[in-house]
Amino acid sequence: MRKPLVAGNWKMNGNSASNTLLLDGILAQKNTFTSVDVAIFPSAVYLHQVQIALERSGLSWGTQNLSQFRQGAYTGEISAAMLKDFGCKYVLIGHSERRGLYAELNLDHFVLDHIVADKYEMALTEGVSPIICIGETPEEHATGQTEEVVARLLDILIKQNGVKALAQTVLAYEPVWAIGTGKSATPEWAQEVHSFMRERVAKHDRATAESLQILYGGSVKGDNAAPLFSMPDIDGGLVGGASLDADEFVKICQAACS
Ligand code: PGA
Repeated sequence: MRKPLVAGNWKMNGNSASNTLLLDGILAQKNTFTSVDVAIFPSAVYLHQVQIALERSGLSWGTQNLSQFRQGAYTGEISAAMLKDFGCKYVLIGHSERRGLYAELNLDHFVLDHIVADKYEMALTEGVSPIICIGETPEEHATGQTEEVVARLLDILIKQNGVKALAQTVLAYEPVWAIGTGKSATPEWAQEVHSFMRERVAKHDRATAESLQILYGGSVKGDNAAPLFSMPDIDGGLVGGASLDADEFVKICQAACS
């Protein structure tokens, strides 16, 4: 039995005062969602604030990105060791909004996937669990390339670090066309892709595939979370917009419990 995980990606939102209100709102209701793991991903400058608020709460925290390099002259970057220092259990890797920024540099998909794989390796080295985001763009969706896109990254991760490393990893299927659009994938569509991802891993190691948490992300809200999470291969959600509202986020956490 896989325990569900709900991750709240705050993106570049919040300030000290609003973060406190949001965290207090979630913590006040934490007894209403006990059989789900919950993690919060603030902007890195608020990591310490979130750490202090969530310490001993049972909730976890992490950042939205990390560097693929260990340390040194990488202005503006955050290393895996720094995440460890601030008690991060998880880190988001390869979010499409990060990929979008790299794409401006005209890096092709293959290079981008390798950068994700390097970041993945760095997180594993420090014992921080990577949440790897995978998903097709609207163009790739329209031309039927979903499976090709998710398989390409999965194959690179497995080739670079071995299938067993996925035991400490969470995957998040995040179709780019569903992120921030209010247009969530249907539970049936998401289930099909999740099942394809699990099978791809199972070809290498069935036990690892069976224990792997695969989250769905893309316009998850309080009122569509339950049907998504009821699918056999959907093990929770990576939530953007709806994680900025305590009651809405709590509703999603509760939906993962039932
Ligand atoms: P959304 O974002 O829930 O606002 O669609 C999801 C994400 O980017 O992780």
